[in-house]
Amino acid sequence: MVRSKIKITGIKARFYDLLVNLATGFRYGKLVKEVTAKMNIAEGVGLIDLGGGTGKNAKLFARLAGNSGKIVLVDIGKTMLKKAGRRLKKYKNCEIVSADILKPLKFNGFDMVFISFIMHGLEIQERSALMKNVSKLLKRGGHLFILDYNQFDMKKLNPIAGYLFTHFECELAAEFIKWDAERFLRSYKFGKFEKWYWHDKKIRLLRAEKL
Ligand SMILES: C[S@@+](CC[C@H](N)C(=O)[O-])C[C@H]1O[C@@H](n2cnc3c(N)ncnc32)[C@H](O)[C@@H]1O
Repeated sequence: MVRSKIKITGIKARFYDLLVNLATGFRYGKLVKEVTAKMNIAEGVGLIDLGGGTGKNAKLFARLAGNSGKIVLVDIGKTMLKKAGRRLKKYKNCEIVSADILKPLKFNGFDMVFISFIMHGLEIQERSALMKNVSKLLKRGGHLFILDYNQFDMKKLNPIAGYLFTHFECELAAEFIKWDAERFLRSYKFGKFEKWYWHDKKIRLLRAEKL
């Protein structure tokens, strides 16, 4: 099993949206819409999407943030960035940045940080590097949103889900589903957690406030 699969390149990057749609039975678009609705994005918001991929989430954020808002999408994948660029071209409130989210970033003062399907593919020390960035990026009282796998017991998955998870996901994801995210976030002075679940509680949106 490969340790991490979050660096998306080559043919996987070219067909990323299609592959995600196939893997989720074409339910990903609905999930993204429902997640965005839970985030309560108001006009004028400053939001940074770390590892934002092809910009599917950022497009919805940009619409809600309006002209007075600012959406920044950061990614490291060339093809992913190109796709995001095309998708977000008409949104003047969007900025697309090519950078490594595990290294210090040039921004600060955001109301919201969004991290979707990144954490499960990071080693513990990389999660710490990312959190140091998140702390600097967010205003006090700002919100971090992590959309990713919830904690669950792989042995309790139905045979098809179990097969898909062990064959298509990475080794780190198998470790991530046992990980206490809230305890980790508390050590970075985040709290006031709120959670929403999808897909039989296997997917979780976790909101944490910078205290
Ligand atoms: C699994 S995809 C998730 C994309 C998007 N957030 C979503 O939910 O659809 C992981 C993304 O993280 C990006 N990525 C991985 N490691 C990164 C890093 N160190 N810095 C910036 N982006 C990274 C990849 O290029 C890819 O676009």
